[in-house]
Amino acid sequence: MISPRKTYIIANWKMNFTPGESSLYLNRLSKRITPSRNVQVILAPSIVSLQPLSLQINRRQFKLAAQNFYWRDYGAFTGETSVSQLRGFVDYAIIGHSERRYIFNESEEDIAQKVAAALRNGLTPILCIGETAMERSDGETAASIYSQLANGLHEVSKEDISKIIIAYEPVWAISSNKDARPAKPADIEEAQALIRKHISKLYGKTASEEISILYGGSVNSDTAGGYLSIRGIDGLLVGSASLIADPFCAIVETAKGIKNER
Ligand code: PGA
Repeated sequence: MISPRKTYIIANWKMNFTPGESSLYLNRLSKRITPSRNVQVILAPSIVSLQPLSLQINRRQFKLAAQNFYWRDYGAFTGETSVSQLRGFVDYAIIGHSERRYIFNESEEDIAQKVAAALRNGLTPILCIGETAMERSDGETAASIYSQLANGLHEVSKEDISKIIIAYEPVWAISSNKDARPAKPADIEEAQALIRKHISKLYGKTASEEISILYGGSVNSDTAGGYLSIRGIDGLLVGSASLIADPFCAIVETAKGIKNER
C-alpha cells in the first residue's frame, strides 16, 4: 500500500534579506509555526544566510533548502558553491527554477547534473518544471512538461526516484513575471496528472503514486487552500508571499488544517 504523501510548504526568499534580516525573520516565524509531522516547512534563503540560519534553526520545525549551487563537487570554478560545500547546512535543493533557466540560461544538462549532484550528496532535489506562456498558447504544455521532466531526471535511477520532489511552476504564473496571472485549479490538476503519467512511464506506477508534486506561482494566503485541495498536489512553493510573516504563517496553518481533514 502507498503511504500517504507529506505536505511541503517551501519559502523561496530569492535574493532578499541580509543574514541579519534572515535571522530576525526566522526568529519571528519560529514563534508562530509549530512543528508538524504532516506538514514540512522548508526555508530557502539566499546562500549567504544558509550557514548562520543552519545554526539557529530548530530542525524539527524547519528544514533549509539551497536556491542554487554548482553541480561539480570541488575545483576551480570562481564564484560558485558546490552542493558538497552546502551539505550539513541544507537538506533540500531547488533545481531548475524558471528564473535560473531563463535569466541565467541554465541548460537541461546543467539541471540534470544538479539533480545528480544533490542525490550524490544526500540532499533532496526539488525539481522545478513548467511551461512558458508561449508554450501554453501554442498548445505545447504537455510537450514542455514531458521534456523538462525527462531531461531533468536523466541521471536518476529507479532506486532514487522516490527521493525527488517535483514542483510544477508555470512560468506565466510566477509573480515576478510582468503579466503574471494565477493558474486555474483545472490546469494544475491536469499538469500533475501529466507528470504522474510520465513518471509512471519512466519509473513505474508505484513511483508515480509516491512522488510528491507541489504547485508554485503567485500563491498567497487567500489562494493557498484552493491549491492545496487540488487532487494530487502535495504542497506549495511560495515566493513573494513567503517574505512576510502573516501571509506565510497563514499558508502553513491552512496546509495543516487541510492535512488534518484528510
Ligand atoms: P511567487 O514565486 O510565489 O512570487 O510567484 C514562486 C516561485 O518563483 O517559486
